[in-house]
Amino acid sequence: MRVSDEIHHGKVAVITGGGRGFGKAFGTALAARGAHVVLADIDGHAAASAATEIVAKGGSASAAACDVADEAVVAAVFGEVAEEHGGIDILVNNAGLHSAAYNKPSAEIGIAGLRRLFDVNVMGVYICSLAARPAMSGRPGAAVVNISSSAAYGNRAAYGVSKLAVRGATAQLAREFAADGIRVNAIAPGLIFTDTIRAELPKDEAARVMSQQILSREGEERDIVDALLYLVSPASSFVTGETLRVTGGFALSV
Ligand SMILES: NC(=O)c1ccc[n+]([C@@H]2O[C@H](COP(=O)([O-])OP(=O)(O)OC[C@H]3O[C@@H](n4cnc5c(N)ncnc54)[C@H](O)[C@@H]3O)[C@@H](O)[C@H]2O)c1
Repeated sequence: MRVSDEIHHGKVAVITGGGRGFGKAFGTALAARGAHVVLADIDGHAAASAATEIVAKGGSASAAACDVADEAVVAAVFGEVAEEHGGIDILVNNAGLHSAAYNKPSAEIGIAGLRRLFDVNVMGVYICSLAARPAMSGRPGAAVVNISSSAAYGNRAAYGVSKLAVRGATAQLAREFAADGIRVNAIAPGLIFTDTIRAELPKDEAARVMSQQILSREGEERDIVDALLYLVSPASSFVTGETLRVTGGFALSV
């Protein structure tokens, strides 16, 4: 059996930023393999319509309006999920701010923008992980997967610094959560052509990034979904604290 065919029947997965892009693709893939998925997104309408699509395909899904930077809302959402489903097996900390607005010089982003970037991309990982931990503790195969970025290895802008912090948080939380049998890993995607990226990224910037890949094809959502399926499966049961780059070899260094 391939890792991507692993069955997650009876498992409960919470996916932040689950309303579109990677989050929706993760939810679709885990639901297709039997998990109940909770799509938690600041855009409650996007989350609800993504959940409806998954249910229409025969999956089990629900939606929650949730800002990952809002501790009280996160506590309420995760508490409800734990109560209704008896626990949480998989947490995907995927919600993130990554538009061109956060790939500018710090002075242009401004203090309020920088604060919001780190609140969502970094504090959101801590807030959701700590909220989920009691409900994940001792569940066989419990796994947290954080979404970092290839930008964490280049650091041209504050966005990359926030994603470098996600790599650090991954190693730290892996150490702390191991006592509860929870593995914590991250994926650092390169340029992946989601709807948002197609709509927002200038063509010359996309070409610049692709020229630094070793593999010349476009990165697709399924590349990141396959990495997620590996990191939540028993095939990675001896892997924790790692960040897996899925970039087509973008700006590879040793
Ligand atoms: N697409 C890429 O090429 C790429 C590359 C590297 C890393 N990433 C990372 O992957 C993740 C998902 O990217 P995507 O391309 O699918 O993005 P996207 O913009 O298509 O979707 C992000 C989702 O997160 C939600 N969101 C934003 N702020 C939130 C908050 N505070 N609380 C809850 N939900 C919130 C949005 O409403 C949206 O539905 C992000 O963390 C991003 O930084 C993406």
